[in-house]
Order: sequence, then C-alpha cells, then structure tokens
Amino acid sequence: MRFDGKVALISGGGSGVGRATAIAFAQRGAKVAVVDVNGESAGKTMAEIEATGGTAIAIVADLAVAGEVDAMAARTMNVFGRLDILHNNAYGSRPTAQQSGVTLLAELDQARWDHAIKIGLTAVMQAIKAVVPIMQKQGGGTIVNTSSIAGLFADAGTAAYNTVKAGVINLTRAVALEYARDGMRGELCLPGRDRHAIVAKCADRRRLRGSDQGGDSDETDWPSRRDCQRRAVSGVRPGLVRDWRDHRG
Ligand SMILES: NC(=O)c1ccc[n+]([C@@H]2O[C@H](COP(=O)([O-])OP(=O)(O)OC[C@H]3O[C@@H](n4cnc5c(N)ncnc54)[C@H](O)[C@@H]3O)[C@@H](O)[C@H]2O)c1
Repeated sequence: MRFDGKVALISGGGSGVGRATAIAFAQRGAKVAVVDVNGESAGKTMAEIEATGGTAIAIVADLAVAGEVDAMAARTMNVFGRLDILHNNAYGSRPTAQQSGVTLLAELDQARWDHAIKIGLTAVMQAIKAVVPIMQKQGGGTIVNTSSIAGLFADAGTAAYNTVKAGVINLTRAVALEYARDGMRGELCLPGRDRHAIVAKCADRRRLRGSDQGGDSDETDWPSRRDCQRRAVSGVRPGLVRDWRDHRG
C-alpha cells in the first residue's frame, strides 16, 4: 500500500510506536509531521526519514498544553497544505514530587490524574476537532488513535491509564460513527505489550499486587497472554489507513 501525495501527522513520533509508525508511512510515500514534546527525539525521527529519501518535519509541542494541539495541525497545514492521516499516539505520565510509577486509587495524586486526562483524552479530542474540518474539505481522511490492551482490562495501580485508554476506544467509535458520511475513518491501534518505556513499569505493578514470583511471571498474568517482548515495536500497520473511498460505498 502506498501513500504518495498524502500527509500523516504522528504525535509521540519521537519514540516507540510513534517513531516506527512515522517511518513506516514515510517509507510508503507519505509526507510526515513528527510531533513530540521531546524536540531532540522528534528531530531524530525526522532525520531518519530524510536519510532514506522521505519527507518529514519535526514539530515540538506539549499536547497537554491548551493551544499546542491546534498549533501542530496548523503548522502541518502551513508546510504541507493538506492532512490525510492523524495518528493520536503520544502519551506520557508526569510523575509528581510525591508519586512516580504505579499508585493505588486512594493515593492517586490529583495532578497525575489531571495530566493523564489531558494528554490521553483531551488532547486526542482537540486534535480530532482540529483536523475534522480539514478532512471534510478534502473529502476524507483517517484518524488513528492509540489505545491499549489496558483500555479493555483493568489492572491494579494504573487506574488513570486504564480509564484514559478505555475512553479513547469510544472516542474512536464516535469518529467512525459521526464522520463516515464525510469519507472519514476512525481506527484504533491497540498495542498489547512491547518491552518499552511505558511498560517497564510492569515489574512495579506485579510487586504492588504481591504477585511477583520473580522470573517471567508477568508473561503469564497479562490479560492478553501475548508475549510481545520478542517483537520489535513495529508501530501502526499502514494497512489500517485504507483509502477512505473503500469505506463509502
Ligand atoms: N509500548 C507498549 O507496549 C504499549 C502498550 C499499550 C499501549 N501503548 C500506547 O502506545 C503509545 C506510544 O507508546 P510507546 O510505548 O511508544 O511510548 P514512548 O514513551 O516510547 O513514546 C511516547 C512518546 O510520546 C511523547 N510524549 C509524551 N508526552 C507528550 C506530550 N505531553 N506532548 C507530546 N508528546 C508527548 C514522548 O516524548 C514519547 O516520544 C501510547 O499511547 C501508549 O499508551 C504502548
């Protein structure tokens, strides 16, 4: 599948799933806006794409800050003149002075909860609002939101993350239901578990539940029972972003 002439905006494109996705789209011909709060990593992804003949820009934005979501969409339009694929993928918890990692509900710091909602849900909603009029005008587009297996199952000590990722699932359904008539698609990316920055906290979670038997016990108590450790983080399959005309029929 090729995306020549299309433009993709990938949030959290400096690392992990987002980085792999940005590179995959660029390899298939899309021009890519790599958005990340970490300017250095966004720049590295951009440089990797350009080194293999692709076209990319790096946009530094803290999507938890009001206004920066609209600004990333506006910058993409200013540079590339269109926007066909939005991948809402960025996530990062913001540890407070008191708390880091896994926390039971009764001890959950308000600032941690607020940040999770801002980056995990509000920023996703704002990005959708920013691109829908653009895609309507263009006659279609695809919005991919990264949720998680954690949006389908609950786990001890990660209530904010579980709640946010569950919310992303219905937000994506809303996109599909509300804008199918405009030729738009809403798609979910539901990663299981890759041994990567965010999931490095698994060991903490096991200890909190008192289930840490040592060894590889986390491989069997994870709801999906999928061992993604041996998989490289491969990002979104570009096949998710089929041509929206397939969808209209
Ligand atoms: N890695 C996994 O196994 C896994 C499993 C389930 C879901 N996910 C989801 O996949 C997505 C990507 O995760 P990942 O594992 O690649 O993580 P990652 O930490 O490697 O990448 C996340 C990126 O988001 C950026 N980011 C964080 N806060 C931001 C902000 N406020 N504004 C802009 N950018 C910000 C980070 O700088 C980072 O580059 C997340 O939504 C995560 O919840 C990952």
